[in-house]
Amino acid sequence: MNEEEEKNKGLGFSRGLTNYGDRGFSLYLRRSFASSMGYSREMLDRPIVGIAHSASGFNNCHRHFPELIEAVKRGVLAAGALPVEFPTISLGEVFLSPTSLKFRNLMSMDVEEMIRAQPMDSVVLLGGCDKTVPAQLMGAASADIPAIQLVGGPMSTSRHRGERLGACTDCRRFWARYRAGGVSDEEIDSVERRLASTAGSCAVMGTASTMASLAEALGMMPAGSAAIPAVDADRLRMAEETGRIAVSLIGSDRRPSRIMTAEAVENAVRVLLALGGSTNAIIHLAAIAGRLGLSVDLDRMNELSETTPVLVDLKPTGVGYMEDLHAAGGIPAVLRELRPLLHLDCVTVTGETIGERIDAAHPWVDREIIHPVETPVRENGGLVALFGNLAPKGSILKRAAADPALFEREGRAVVFSSLEDLAARIDDPDLDVDADDFLVLQNAGPVSEAAMPEAGYLPIPSKLARTGVKDMVRISDARMSGTAYGTIVLHVTPDAASGGPLALVRNGDRIRLSVAGRRLELLVDDAELDRRRTALVPAKRPPSRGYQRLYDEQILQADEGCDFAFLRSLERS
Ligand code: FES
Ligand code: MG
Repeated sequence: MNEEEEKNKGLGFSRGLTNYGDRGFSLYLRRSFASSMGYSREMLDRPIVGIAHSASGFNNCHRHFPELIEAVKRGVLAAGALPVEFPTISLGEVFLSPTSLKFRNLMSMDVEEMIRAQPMDSVVLLGGCDKTVPAQLMGAASADIPAIQLVGGPMSTSRHRGERLGACTDCRRFWARYRAGGVSDEEIDSVERRLASTAGSCAVMGTASTMASLAEALGMMPAGSAAIPAVDADRLRMAEETGRIAVSLIGSDRRPSRIMTAEAVENAVRVLLALGGSTNAIIHLAAIAGRLGLSVDLDRMNELSETTPVLVDLKPTGVGYMEDLHAAGGIPAVLRELRPLLHLDCVTVTGETIGERIDAAHPWVDREIIHPVETPVRENGGLVALFGNLAPKGSILKRAAADPALFEREGRAVVFSSLEDLAARIDDPDLDVDADDFLVLQNAGPVSEAAMPEAGYLPIPSKLARTGVKDMVRISDARMSGTAYGTIVLHVTPDAASGGPLALVRNGDRIRLSVAGRRLELLVDDAELDRRRTALVPAKRPPSRGYQRLYDEQILQADEGCDFAFLRSLERS
């Protein structure tokens, strides 16, 4: 064995061995326990590829993981290493309360510590549902051992009376019609059973699909792997291939910190803008970058947004579903369109650069789904950051999913002080509101007890919905589901619960929104705002313990990815 082979062979079960003076005994003990699982000596001497997965009975998206794990193992074994799977916390988007985001950092800690503490020479991160991929990338970035991401892939669509259905943009469309009285109880029941009918993550360009696409753009996944449907045989072949690549990573310097560089993060922002992707991705990308001493600057995002057209025509902003993106050429075809705008020499997990991946991709592309830059879906990027006295550290508007008729507006604030207040009054027939008003929700940001839920998609008050109002300006410190749409200003930072200016808005105040000017202004004079600030009574928080206490003490604002302060890189500038 030459020196290079020696270096690359991996340490297997002897990695990280605790040594109380007799290393031989420790290894003998560990091997004997591993032997109890039936491994032959030949297997015990192999390098180890860990498979960190998030399968759970509370995660519908991941129900096909056992089959995917088998395929990863096949690839690992064929390439000469030993695959060892282990579970981590799972975050099933719709089953967690108060919101899955609250537990993303907990999952990232689980991933980081378990891949560091257990003996493995490289690791496959298998996730898929919204928060799982960012949590895995955050954990892997912090542990910084060679890692490769694999996602479960998107759900396939189903049919309802001739209409194509996919979670969960169509969920909202049908529910809005039901609220407005246009869909019967019987029909909404039948739609409920058809919205999500296969394994996999939500079928549109929601947060899960956006994060899968960004993981590929960052170089952390194999080319073309983001959009393969969950139930397609290609998904299994990709899992096998991922296992093989994981073995090739052993002993290499292709660690997360070498792949997710500042240039790679900028590539990911470009792709996010070109996808018209989820607003949540900005938070997740900032959190991942923060683990590596990098940041996602919202002013820079605005600059990129001006020169990055939306190219991909998928719901919630367009027409197609993720399975269509896969059939259209997938992320490699999107990267090819963006070629002049990308940092091409970023290295990926396979050792190819992004430029080499683009050159290697088949040139065929479905132009209905992936438009050329010359005739884009929209001229500029899907997201824009707004600043002003109401959001000194920024807020986000998904302009690709909003109504341009509402972009340059001044409106009267109709304020809801909390989620409870919103629930109690939004459908009150006596609510003083009309279609030109701005609905404002306070105390739904990261510091609030609600922990920044996807509540920014405030419902249109039903008395207005019934008269045909489909969109209104809505402003909050909350997030919005990646599958939702509307003229919705999110992530107002700093948030209301931390005493940000959003907390100072009162019913009847005037607010000016200018998407062209990137401004969000509360038209109340400074003296009055100072008076209100002095009178502000900070919400009484009950004493906390356990994870809640960690959360209360450490949570950062949206511009820092809602990570925990103590988890960010120590090398952060
Ligand atoms: Fe898992 Fe939508 S519920 S991706
Ligand atoms: Mg089109």
